[in-house]
Amino acid sequence: MKASDMGDDLEKILITEEEIKQRLAQMAAEIDRDYEGKEILLVGVLRGAIMVMADLARAISTPLEMDWMAVSSYGSGTKSSGVVRILKDLDSDLTGKHVLIVEDIIDSGLTLSWLKTNLASRGPVSVEIATLLRKPEAAKVDVDVKYVGFDIPNEFVIGYGLDYAEKYRNLPFVGTLAPHVYEAVSE
Ligand code: XMP
Ligand code: MG
Repeated sequence: MKASDMGDDLEKILITEEEIKQRLAQMAAEIDRDYEGKEILLVGVLRGAIMVMADLARAISTPLEMDWMAVSSYGSGTKSSGVVRILKDLDSDLTGKHVLIVEDIIDSGLTLSWLKTNLASRGPVSVEIATLLRKPEAAKVDVDVKYVGFDIPNEFVIGYGLDYAEKYRNLPFVGTLAPHVYEAVSE
């Protein structure tokens, strides 16, 4: 899907396809340095992290496995509450593994904070987090995020895996929606 396919539903492009590609390559290089001589288990958080996972994994040279988790945080629509439910658990045993959680976005940080603690209790050697995007609110929660792509303003963003009402995940960039898109749904 291209920007031009969105007509006037697109407000602005925040991070371009090229910027994402370059930043992921830098993150992958950092990861390769940090995990030299080791193997990584990448844990992608469905569904938003699919694009980051696919592109970041392909940029990493360190041997790795990929597994997936789906979680839902209870709460009203766009705000997460910190109470997390596992919808799909990992297939892998984490004993002795170097786990790297891959996320699309950290907002309040509550979901990631819960997930990191949960995975750490399963006997891995290490658990770290890589996220493409981070919002300012995330700083309020004490969750240590080792790899951050971009710090972004506190706006709702779509594209590159991120959805609004399940749409726009297939945009190659990260952007914001025009206000009329939200108004159309609430009417
Ligand atoms: P936390 O617990 O960090 O939750 O508040 C992060 C989750 O909230 C969703 N989220 C967004 N999804 N555009 C989206 O499409 C956004 O701007 C946005 N901010 C937060 C997302 O599911 C993420 O995993
Ligand atoms: Mg997500």
